[in-house]
Amino acid sequence: MHKDVEKILFSEERIARRVAELGGEIARDYEGEAPLMVCILKGACVFFADLIRAAGIPLSIDFMAVSSYGAGSVSSGRVKIEKEVGQDVSGRHVVLVEDIIDTGNSLCALKELFSSRGAASVKICAFLDKKARRTAPVEADYVGYEIEDAFVVGYGLDYAERYRQLPYIGVLRKEVYEK
Ligand code: PRP
Repeated sequence: MHKDVEKILFSEERIARRVAELGGEIARDYEGEAPLMVCILKGACVFFADLIRAAGIPLSIDFMAVSSYGAGSVSSGRVKIEKEVGQDVSGRHVVLVEDIIDTGNSLCALKELFSSRGAASVKICAFLDKKARRTAPVEADYVGYEIEDAFVVGYGLDYAERYRQLPYIGVLRKEVYEK
């Protein structure tokens, strides 16, 4: 275990089992639909790569990056688009893939954005859900695990751009972010 990690919340094996289940659900729900899976960078990249292989159905992929303006602002102005998808999404069945939903600001704005662009449907798949922190009216359609409000890293999740490469999800030691 990394020295900055206090405890492991989800081991590599447990993550793999849950991702396989989520992939199975998506495969069942989107059979024959060739959904457009959109990875919300950067945190979701590791989960995304595992999820699309676990789904194992014909699909296409794209990438988007957003940054938050903070909880104070409203509507689609909540997020700033840092990287756009590279295709027309109208008529497509879109699945937005995230590592974690916290306040819900990012996904709420993204869901509105893809709907306004004429997507046939927009669903959300998030590996972690910090439900207690939600301030925006958005729910994920597929969730790996609901978690408490702890500072988690690994499996794509970072603190100051570190720890994304850890194969497990762990709770970061307080000393690391309080010093
Ligand atoms: C994280 C996460 C989500 C967002 C969730 O991304 O990947 O995109 O925050 O927070 P919200 O529900 O409060 O909007 P972050 O902005 O840290 O960027 P990263 O994915 O590049 O690490």
